[in-house]
Amino acid sequence: MNFKKKFAEELYAALDGAIEAAELEQLIEKPKTQQHGDLAFPCFSLAKMQRKAPHLIAQELAGKIQSRVFEKMEVVGAYINVFLNKQQVAADILNQIISQQGEYGTQKEGNGGKVTIDLSSPNIAKPFSMGHLRSTVIGNALALIVEKCGFQPIKINHLGDWGTQFGKLISAYKRWGNPEKVKQNPIKELLSLYVQFHAEAEANPALDDEGRSWFKKLEDGDEEALALWQWFRDESLKEFSRIYELMGVQFDSYAGEAFYNDKMDRIVKLLEEKELLVESNQAQVVELNEEQLPPCLIKKSDGATLYATRDLAAALYRKEHYDFSQSLYVVGHEQSLHFKQLIAVLKKMGFDWADKMVHIPFGMMLKDGKKMSTRKGKVVLLEEVLAESIEMARSNIEEKNPTLKNKEEVAKQVGVGAVIFHDLKNYRMNDIEFSLEEMLRFEGETAPYVQYTFARACSILRKAGWKLETPAQAYQTSWEKEWKVVSLLMEFPSAIKRACENYDPSLVAKYIIDLAQVFNKYYAEVKVLEESPEREARLALVCSVTVVLKEGLRLLGISAPEEM
Ligand code: ARG
Repeated sequence: MNFKKKFAEELYAALDGAIEAAELEQLIEKPKTQQHGDLAFPCFSLAKMQRKAPHLIAQELAGKIQSRVFEKMEVVGAYINVFLNKQQVAADILNQIISQQGEYGTQKEGNGGKVTIDLSSPNIAKPFSMGHLRSTVIGNALALIVEKCGFQPIKINHLGDWGTQFGKLISAYKRWGNPEKVKQNPIKELLSLYVQFHAEAEANPALDDEGRSWFKKLEDGDEEALALWQWFRDESLKEFSRIYELMGVQFDSYAGEAFYNDKMDRIVKLLEEKELLVESNQAQVVELNEEQLPPCLIKKSDGATLYATRDLAAALYRKEHYDFSQSLYVVGHEQSLHFKQLIAVLKKMGFDWADKMVHIPFGMMLKDGKKMSTRKGKVVLLEEVLAESIEMARSNIEEKNPTLKNKEEVAKQVGVGAVIFHDLKNYRMNDIEFSLEEMLRFEGETAPYVQYTFARACSILRKAGWKLETPAQAYQTSWEKEWKVVSLLMEFPSAIKRACENYDPSLVAKYIIDLAQVFNKYYAEVKVLEESPEREARLALVCSVTVVLKEGLRLLGISAPEEM
């Protein structure tokens, strides 16, 4: 039950419908201390409307409200503080959680509307960087969160598999490449060819022309160029797939930039028809003066298309193919200008749905305060980080629980979970300083801490041999000690909703950290397993905590092992 809503409805009735319930709901606050009740309604805005002193309004209104779920109401100054009927509310909530299990917190807002999510999108022949990790984990969590809110997510891996750099790579491979070496260690080898190309091109600018002409050939469908490109792509994807599998991330589509090669003429034609294309330095651009943005480059002087051209084609394709209600792009904030231009050009083309496109930027992963760059080959390889994290989880298990079954699986769930959570617990716009130690800490605000709390709660239930037997209404307890946990459990649906509205998975991450902390505190104070009249109620609480922690972790793309 949503008690805020309930309270708003009561207020609505007491005010004879003078203000919409939804508006009242917005005004309701959650008091900072339990002393001031569970919910509070400040009467300041009403006072303005009714030209009456706020404390008088508070008194008057409070007199008119009565409800089964509120056990007490107090007027303090301009505030009406309500205290929920703990017995009633706790029984309702626990009942709901235990019977709905993973469905608790599921919402219908989305009405089945499709949300395309552009995520991960690494570049072929380059290492999967920490930046791509961020896009992958944030995008994956957003997909799970929007799905929980009733939308249908469509996850698209917009692979960077097209562009002048592939001309350069082909040229480098033809000059210095060795097929055996590429087969053995594709990305490493291709990256070093690319690095070599850049180094040599500095001394010999003619190389750049050679690279450009190979890309032109590729765009025109030259067989040799295409075969090499396909091979680089296949080998790279094999490597990326290992990472995706480890992280448990799947995609609905791998339509990358190359997919739009035959869909760009249409875009250019449409732009011409609308007289939006102008020539500038022999290149074709769309000017965005009114929007106060630099011009968007559509075609280079040699006729080659660009990243932006492909994104225009992709946006149109997604609208026509999926008919999205929202189209999200989870891409680092360095590309903010690109997405502003993209949306502006689409609007100029008369596509109103461009308003439904949202760039979801995130901060950088820094190393010693600086951005990591692939060009110079100085990157931290994600696969190595994951391997190290899993190894650390494994040695932790060996130390703490050497007889655990399926150690390998659990080590993987904990190691990978640590890496994902380290990213998601921060508001996405913050830059993150990459630190292996920080990522792999198994206490404090980390996934292993939440996972451990979950496993411990599961073990309590196992020890108790607990099954739902007593009807919730008959639980014998005052809920005083449990109340903090209960009221947090109640908040789960609204935490999910806020995370969805703000495209911010960190709200779910913070929520489960809070819940784990509050629960651990409770568990340290109360002997749950001890025989007592309250035992049933307490075990029901423990069970509810397991349900919500597990579901919260799932929404972030993290597994919850029952033993660890
Ligand atoms: N491949 C690009 C990069 O690594 C990201 C692509 C993002 N998606 C898009 N539709 N532009 O920088």
